[in-house]
Amino acid sequence: MLDLFSDEAPWAEPLADGAVILRRRARQQGEALLTSIAQIAEQNPFQHRITPGGYRMSVAMTNCGDLGWSSDSRGYQYTEADNLSGHRWPAMPQPFRLLAQTAAQEAGFAGFQPDACLINRYEPGAKLSLHQDKDEKDLHQPIVSVSLGLPAVFQFGGFARGDGVQRVLLEHGDVVVWGGPSRLRFHGILPVKPGVHPLAGPYRYNLTFRRAR
Ligand code: SIN
Ligand code: FE2
Repeated sequence: MLDLFSDEAPWAEPLADGAVILRRRARQQGEALLTSIAQIAEQNPFQHRITPGGYRMSVAMTNCGDLGWSSDSRGYQYTEADNLSGHRWPAMPQPFRLLAQTAAQEAGFAGFQPDACLINRYEPGAKLSLHQDKDEKDLHQPIVSVSLGLPAVFQFGGFARGDGVQRVLLEHGDVVVWGGPSRLRFHGILPVKPGVHPLAGPYRYNLTFRRAR
């Protein structure tokens, strides 16, 4: 199906030094990305992980790539297999890798080689509290985040949890890249509002590409 909005050219919106929103950058590929996500989830279903503190996360997660991120009572970690199913994570589809690499390059981070892609699924009400992405070995490598489906408000803060945050709406096809001096900024997602997206139904999906090791 042709995306009705696919003729809208992407544009860049700076967020901070080393951080930029590439608006609509992945919109043309949105439907293909969602199809791949469904195939990955057939192999390793979305799961609501338990945080080390014992809370069930409202976001459901799966992964693709050499490594996948997950959480359990022992803590947060990157592993080669899903600790719930015992299966290795499905390979990262080539179009995912290419999108992440080119978006990183456009944001000023040439040579990004992601080895992990965390796939988050938000149902209405699901949120991600302010956190830093700091489980990766090489913090010189950026994070590339691709939003699909229902919109959500992204909070982009400072280097302490209590710092002020920018709030920006992320819509289907928006790509956020943060690295360099912004790599350890706190960020999160406010509760997703109920809705129906023509391609993703009642969900927001987010892919985050990382170089984990
Ligand atoms: C994340 O911080 O890992 C995901 C952010 C998002 O869902 O946009
Ligand atoms: Fe994050």
